[in-house]
Amino acid sequence: MSRLIVVSNRVAPIQEGKPSAGGLAIGVLDALKETGGVWFGWSGEIVGEAGAPVVEKGGKVTYATVGLTRRDYDQYYRGFSNATLWPTFHYRNDLSRFDREEYAGYMRVNANLATKLKTFLKPDDIIWVHDYHMLPFAQELRKLGVANPIGFFLHIPFPVPEMMRTVPPHEELIAAMCQYDVVGFQTDADKQSFIDYVERTGRGHFNDDDGMLQAFGRMLKVGAYPIGIYPDAIAKAAEQFANRKQVKSLRDSMRGRKLIMSVDRLDYSKGLVERFQAFERLLLNAPGWHGRVSLVQIAPPTRSDVQTYQRIRQNLEGEAGRINGRFAQLDWTPIQYLNRKYERNLLMALFRLSQVGYVTPLRDGMNLVAKEYVASQDPADPGALVLSQFAGAADQLPGALVVNPFDLSQMSEALERALSMPLAERQARHADMMVPLRENNLSVWRDSFLSDLRSVATATSVTEKTVKTVRQGATEAKRPAAKA
Ligand code: G6P
Repeated sequence: MSRLIVVSNRVAPIQEGKPSAGGLAIGVLDALKETGGVWFGWSGEIVGEAGAPVVEKGGKVTYATVGLTRRDYDQYYRGFSNATLWPTFHYRNDLSRFDREEYAGYMRVNANLATKLKTFLKPDDIIWVHDYHMLPFAQELRKLGVANPIGFFLHIPFPVPEMMRTVPPHEELIAAMCQYDVVGFQTDADKQSFIDYVERTGRGHFNDDDGMLQAFGRMLKVGAYPIGIYPDAIAKAAEQFANRKQVKSLRDSMRGRKLIMSVDRLDYSKGLVERFQAFERLLLNAPGWHGRVSLVQIAPPTRSDVQTYQRIRQNLEGEAGRINGRFAQLDWTPIQYLNRKYERNLLMALFRLSQVGYVTPLRDGMNLVAKEYVASQDPADPGALVLSQFAGAADQLPGALVVNPFDLSQMSEALERALSMPLAERQARHADMMVPLRENNLSVWRDSFLSDLRSVATATSVTEKTVKTVRQGATEAKRPAAKA
């Protein structure tokens, strides 16, 4: 069987039990542990001079990582990836800025990384590239003559064409994406936005019957592959970690109060300010809850050297302080706001302890926290989930109370409903959600993507061979017949 080479900017920490990371690192690490393979990407270090990849083994996975120079980091990661693409793809083009030099740096780093990966490649490897940092990666590999099958999966939303067009080099980026053999999205809506862009600009045509897009002179498969989790393993971890010191002390401090739990990277796409304000509205409209419910928001800071992240942090601190100042009592703090990372299994135990999962991003590719919240629950006495309609997970969690995160009244009503939900309804909703979580688990995501990549690659190489044979045949037919 061919080797799997995974490429992403962020490579998961090798040691188990490390604090939680973003959805990509968690999903890819769990998915790779079974199949094994090589994981290539940024080491997370800033170095004086970018050298050869450092190779380490961790279980069945080989990690090959490279450092970035300060200039590469500033232009490619902090600049074009996180100050242009990230906000725009999350529908916040008001927060997006464009700088030609940063874009040039983004292209340069993709080209350099492709050159470094090439030294590892064997002819029958299949390559799976992840996320918005790497949109032009296949194009760079193709320039180097790499003919291996290359797939791409976007973990974040893909914006509608009008939004995409606000990124100045939009056409170059889409053309580059068409150098992959399979391009995968989290939801049907994201997939449709990509197809709409290509079709409306007259650059190609999508065939619904076989999921193939003909664009920029290439044929590629375009599909939706919603990322999943391993729900039963999570349930087990949540149960096993229930007796950890931190879980016990939170349980003791609750003294019969209800607990609403939220866990997010500190990012403006997560709707944290709106979430706090909707909780405030609950306390305003339903004073019966004073002293009887707390919101625990865990929000480890990320990308704190990007200006928009500094601003959201300040806003959020201001809001938490204001709301607590307004409602707190000597023995009750309404919002416990923690800017630190916790070990993932511990978070699962905290989810199990709480009565409500509160996951309300303004826009999110999938949001694995929503899925993990459900999986962590005790089926005999599960918590309820309040979930944004703009998280990819909303398509797949039929038992959630789905809200519009821009509607504070609706969110506060949903919180109240979740806090007062009768046991039978909670059990039924939980059972409804566990079915799709089990059916579309993380292996299904990985295997369906990779099986499409393998079959498209086989089909394409068969077509290429057929075309070559046909061309050869035609040439031979034109040649004068050899003398007998
Ligand atoms: C999201 C992105 C990932 C990213 C993660 C953490 O989940 O989709 O690509 O790795 O956030 O962000 P960071 O910038 O720290 O890698």
